[in-house]
Amino acid sequence: MNEKEIIIEIQKEMKKFFTQETTGHDWYHIERVWKNAQKIATHYPKANPLQIELAALLHDRYDHKIVSNVEQAKLEVRDLLVQHGLTKELIEKILYSIDAVGFRNGKNPIQPITIEDKIVQDADRLDAIGAIAIARTFVYSGAHQRPIYTGETQEVLEKAHELEDTAIGHFYEKLLTLSDTLHTPEAREIAKGRHEFMKEYLTQFFAEWEGLK
Ligand code: ADP
Ligand code: NI
Repeated sequence: MNEKEIIIEIQKEMKKFFTQETTGHDWYHIERVWKNAQKIATHYPKANPLQIELAALLHDRYDHKIVSNVEQAKLEVRDLLVQHGLTKELIEKILYSIDAVGFRNGKNPIQPITIEDKIVQDADRLDAIGAIAIARTFVYSGAHQRPIYTGETQEVLEKAHELEDTAIGHFYEKLLTLSDTLHTPEAREIAKGRHEFMKEYLTQFFAEWEGLK
């Protein structure tokens, strides 16, 4: 099996796995991350495309929000990669890229090191900035029985980084902080307009909430 065939097989597996997902981490999220990663990677000819594409496709496959047994799911991913004939060295690199993707309130102890890790993390974070990110946030909040917003002032929201209670709170806890964490200039450029759009959205949201617009 050549590299392209391996990627197509894993893509099919992930499409099957994620079609039932309804908390904002569905197949289309995976597909966007995969596409974004490929787009950024075109600027880095020395980066390993197989590592990047497989890490992007598999990045949510053993996330604790998706599976109940993370260790078991990680073993399944490892097996899948072994079955496709990848070297142990490449498998470890892919798993590291995946482990380094997560935000975890900015406290993930595993940080991206290589350009491949950074591209995959940027691609995932881009999908948490902008119009689609807003939709994902409300879907996630709804799926977790959280309210849209409970009337805190913007000052409180800005200081409430530990609060994760409401969809609007999540903008302050995470979404608005992401642009500054991006590694590649290409991702930063895409993030700019998306970040501004989220700010405009919040301005309109609060104006409507106050009955001003
Ligand atoms: P990561 O994989 O980078 O740690 P997550 O999977 O936690 O990111 O989050 C991906 C997206 O899911 C977020 O950008 C957001 O849209 C949504 N989400 C995650 N946690 C929450 C939350 N507590 N409230 C609302 N939306 C959330
Ligand atoms: Ni993701």
